[in-house]
Amino acid sequence: MDMLVVQGGRPLSGAVSVDGSKNATLPIMAATLLTDGPVRLRGVPALADVDTMARLLRSLGADVIRSGSQMVIDPRPASGIVAEYDLVRRMRAGVCVLGPLLARCGTAQVSLPGGCNIGHRPIDLHLRGLAALGADIRICSGYVVAEAGTLTGARIDLTGPQGSSVTATCNVMSAAVAARGETVILGAAQEPEVVCLGRFLNDCGAKIGGLGSPIVTVDGVERLATADVDIGPDRIEAATLAVSAALTRSRIRIDNAPVSQMDAVLSRLADMGVDCFAGDDGLTVDARHGRLRPVNLVTSPYPGIPTDTQAQFTALLTTVPGTSVVTDRVFPERFMHVSELIRMGARIRRAGNSAVIEGVPHLSGAPLMASDLRASAALLLAAVSAEGDSQIRRIYHLDRGYVRLEEKLNRLGATIQRCQDIPARSVSENTRSGE
Ligand code: EPZ
Repeated sequence: MDMLVVQGGRPLSGAVSVDGSKNATLPIMAATLLTDGPVRLRGVPALADVDTMARLLRSLGADVIRSGSQMVIDPRPASGIVAEYDLVRRMRAGVCVLGPLLARCGTAQVSLPGGCNIGHRPIDLHLRGLAALGADIRICSGYVVAEAGTLTGARIDLTGPQGSSVTATCNVMSAAVAARGETVILGAAQEPEVVCLGRFLNDCGAKIGGLGSPIVTVDGVERLATADVDIGPDRIEAATLAVSAALTRSRIRIDNAPVSQMDAVLSRLADMGVDCFAGDDGLTVDARHGRLRPVNLVTSPYPGIPTDTQAQFTALLTTVPGTSVVTDRVFPERFMHVSELIRMGARIRRAGNSAVIEGVPHLSGAPLMASDLRASAALLLAAVSAEGDSQIRRIYHLDRGYVRLEEKLNRLGATIQRCQDIPARSVSENTRSGE
């Protein structure tokens, strides 16, 4: 198992590019099951979750061939209907094959996703939407068993207690493509990744309207052809790198940042006093003046501040003088990073779905444990900015959603080494050895 050893306290500079969007790639890979021919995906990130989704599609019988950042998926040989627990437990997005399988085969057995470090992850909205299209849904031995002779268009409200659901919208939209008649999805997720999926399906012959709005309409069609798809840059990785510049009080440029998808993030950084400006050469983030202001930050579904940037913003605000409050309205329990940041000297108090932060002059390096994808990124940024050295273990969480983030940060001037995990040494052992 790998770990990262970080020598903190160095400013960053220079330019970096982000990889393709994980959360756009995964639903599109699942939706290829709806098409009648090979689909070529370009700009696919080399991520563990993408590998897991490829394994899942192969387990259903699809051909999946990867060549660099390109991938060709041919669903024609696929005859399987079961998405196994061992694959879905690794990657919750495995649930995205439920809608496409139901539309393709009239039946599907998909393992329930199971627990997750960022909080309760129900799929009741997915099941509500598919049942509204006429599917008979049962839970049997930890699996969702869905059956539908034919799917019939319906008017469906997918609004959940925390607002819209990204993958529920993906699942229901995918199934509705093959339903007879019109489907209207109210409370649809507006995330760019949902829009990317809808545009891919339309390129294959679907008739989806209202993408990017809370009301999506789908006119069912007999069959889908096929189409190639270009995966755009990852807005969450771009936001993560923007926060790295703010946290280290540096200036960097992110060459292919999808700025038009980052309004809420850039607006909040500006509220803190970080200079962000988009030009033909990408997004420049400049915090060298160092005078940052505390803010109150609340996450919400797109176009609000993404919950996937909450941990990174929390890490940033620990070093901003004054009191800041970070509230996660999407995943109220998504604060596994807080205890590790406190071990670095941060002053944070939990209060329900919020973290109340008193800024400190700087964080201090420490042995750290990653817990989930975005918490891992937050700890890495914190370690890069901290005074002293840190070791971050269980970085397999990081590799699920970032392509070698440490190498990108090293190109910007950080000093991070990926190595084999070694037992954490006690302070006395370090002292004895004079470190
Ligand atoms: C997607 O997860 C993303 N994953 C998540 O990114 C992201 O955090 C999340 O959307 C919110 O933006 C992928 O796209 C693969 P939701 P998803 O359904 O679809 C509740 C990352 O770090 N809910 O939009 O699973 C749910 O509990 C990952 O890249 C229900 O109540 O999230 C949550 O509070 C983490 N019932 C809220 O909705 C349901 O049936 C939003 O969840 C489904 C969800």
